Amino acid sequence: MCMRYLAIAAAIIVILAGVIFNTAGKKMMQATSGDGPVVVLPEPDSTGARLFKQYCAQCHGLPEIDTHTAADWPRAVERMMTNMSASGQQMPSEGERNLIRAYLVRHAK
Ligand code: HEC
Repeated sequence: MCMRYLAIAAAIIVILAGVIFNTAGKKMMQATSGDGPVVVLPEPDSTGARLFKQYCAQCHGLPEIDTHTAADWPRAVERMMTNMSASGQQMPSEGERNLIRAYLVRHAK
């Protein structure tokens, strides 16, 4: 009786461990496989996409564009300008910033 519960508990633990290990393994494969950008950019050859890649991955990974709405992106970009000037990273000119902002707004969620 008691042994049976133990056996069931052990089986559940083995299954759970398998599931967790499997997902973790897949995530690691994703993070390490290939050397291309993880984010697939729309309009990859446009100036906006090029500037976005150039300036917006200096401190963190290139953000996913559909994490913000068209209404939210301008504010997020302005906040990043503050982050950049505070940390001395390469900053886009005003024209470049407009292109990045327009690109993000165009492809927002
Ligand atoms: C100077 C370093 C730096 C650069 C360059 C930079 N960021 Fe950031 N970014 C940060 C930091 C620090 C945070 C976390 C704190 C915050 O949200 O302000 C962040 C967070 C974010 C976030 C998540 C928070 C949110 O509002 O959703 C997004 C999206 C983002 N950055 C987009 C961008 C874009 C777009 C650019 C290019 C225009 C950019 N970042 C360039 C430093 C930077």
